[in-house]
Amino acid sequence: MRLLFVCLGNICRSPTAEGVMRHKLQLAGLADRVQVDSAGTGAWHVGKAPDPRTCAAAEQRGYRLHELRARQVQAEDFARFDWVLAMDHDNLRELCRLRPPQGDAELDLFLRRGGLAEHEVPDPYYGGADGFEQVLDLVELACDRLIEQIRERL
Ligand code: 4NP
Repeated sequence: MRLLFVCLGNICRSPTAEGVMRHKLQLAGLADRVQVDSAGTGAWHVGKAPDPRTCAAAEQRGYRLHELRARQVQAEDFARFDWVLAMDHDNLRELCRLRPPQGDAELDLFLRRGGLAEHEVPDPYYGGADGFEQVLDLVELACDRLIEQIRERL
């Protein structure tokens, strides 16, 4: 299976989801069966490492994100990935607009697909440290739920 996590800048929320999911898939013994990537709908940060606040908060919980580099979503992603999961409604709207007719990836909100009542991972970029912790809390929960679903599909 191939999963793509998408946010706006690809330097806060989606790289967090990528790093947390990779880590949890390793622990679940599924790392060789599931590929994970992340991308942004915007191009401002292409080629950059995740935001230092994102890296620091993740590292506190044992996830290393420093080596990731931002990229922008491409039309081919809708054919290359099985699930394309957006962090908020704006990202999802943009993905619906970008999706080519032949792209058959399943498109959804990341938290909704994870079965959470909350549907958006709030953008932490302009806020304080709490926002980065909240991102991690939501991402950890949703990744656990997604791994249960992945086990059922594989
Ligand atoms: P992300 O956060 O979408 O979670 O990576 C943001 C990063 C950068 C900006 C906005 C949100 N920005 O406006 O540059």
